[in-house]
Amino acid sequence: MQNFVFHNPTKILFGKGKIAEIGEETVQYGKKVLLVYGCGSVKKSGLLDKVKDSLTEAGAIISEHGGVQSNPLLSHTHSGIAIAKKDKCNVVCAVGGGSVLDEAKAICAGSLVDHDVWKFFTGKKSIKATLPLTTVLTLAASGSEMNSGMVITNDSTTQKFGFGNKHLFPKTSILDPSCTCSVPADYTAYGAVDAISHVLEFYFTREDSCTPVQDRLMEGLVINAMESCDRVLKRADDYQARADLMWTATLALNGLTAAGLGKVGFPMHMIEHSLSAFYNIAHGAGLSAIIPGWMKFRAASQPQRFAQFAERVFDIRNGSMQQKAANGIEALESWFCRVKSPTTLTDLEISAEEIPKIADNAVALAKVWRMREYNQQIIESVLINCL
Ligand code: NZQ
Ligand code: ZN
Repeated sequence: MQNFVFHNPTKILFGKGKIAEIGEETVQYGKKVLLVYGCGSVKKSGLLDKVKDSLTEAGAIISEHGGVQSNPLLSHTHSGIAIAKKDKCNVVCAVGGGSVLDEAKAICAGSLVDHDVWKFFTGKKSIKATLPLTTVLTLAASGSEMNSGMVITNDSTTQKFGFGNKHLFPKTSILDPSCTCSVPADYTAYGAVDAISHVLEFYFTREDSCTPVQDRLMEGLVINAMESCDRVLKRADDYQARADLMWTATLALNGLTAAGLGKVGFPMHMIEHSLSAFYNIAHGAGLSAIIPGWMKFRAASQPQRFAQFAERVFDIRNGSMQQKAANGIEALESWFCRVKSPTTLTDLEISAEEIPKIADNAVALAKVWRMREYNQQIIESVLINCL
């Protein structure tokens, strides 16, 4: 296990009835609140009104920035920054899934500078300060509620870039699992896939080979993501299953699993972001189309690691190391099929002819993320594996 610093400053309020506390949690940072939300689900469910009531009771003056779309856009982020600046907002409150939270993070960072917020994403500028952020999470998936990452699509250049900075941790996030009961089956499954993918990225790219605590933790999170998702898909309003899935997704990407692993990569995300950028695919759906192909590519160089995954997650005991590795990948792919998440590019109606264009787009992010081993040729061969 390698040296590490684990410092996660986000306060989590978890459970039923916690929404009422968002007002007090937010106004301690300022009274002029920019309320950020998505394309309608929070209005339909009545959650937005509850959040507004709590903010108003706490003395907040609310400005609104709704209409954040899934795979949030830079142009829409610019409008949010303009509102925050015009209304002199001193705190941001985000109500929604990962897309809403990420756009809110970008607004928090962009509101305190004169240059384009995109310069943070390309590494031309670094974040020195942000507006404080509170969140109410409505979808178990991204981990954004308790991490320092954000992902935005530049709709002028068709680039979906993401990065982390310590100023981007939300101050407080409210996780009430009952808010996720209205998430439809497809997005519930894509969310579970996303949580699993965050674990797999670390599990299979870690630098250090002696990390038993992290291994067991990550294997447990994958098992739990699948089990809780299965339960939710049987009964959408199963509170305990929603709670399991929600906390699993948060733990999968809050820094805990990666602590002590040394350098880790995010190759499946790096490639998936190009799929979302070109085709506006749900993030989890794009991931499940990439994961099996990437795993087959990677398993060739570390079959032992993949055999361990197969044994511990899917109880695959028979066969050679290579056979176990292959059977583990197949078992995960079967689970993706069972929850109706695509497992190939073909499922997404993306053909072989489009691969060079996708790879070319992904190379740009590989450079920003300093994953130089992923050149055009390597990315194309991974994508061919995904057809
Ligand atoms: O816009 P509304 O109407 O709210 O609808 C959303 C959206 O259509 C809907 N939804 C959300 N909560 C709901 C609900 N529908 C019914 N009931 C609810 N309670 O679900 C759809 C998807 O929402 P979205 O926020 O896009 O999903 P998710 O949470 O999966 O976020 C995806 C984004 O997060 C980024 C992804 O790249 C993608 O842009 N990620 C962010 C990360 C981070 N910040 O650390 C890491 C992740 O790897 C990921 O890349
Ligand atoms: Zn993800």
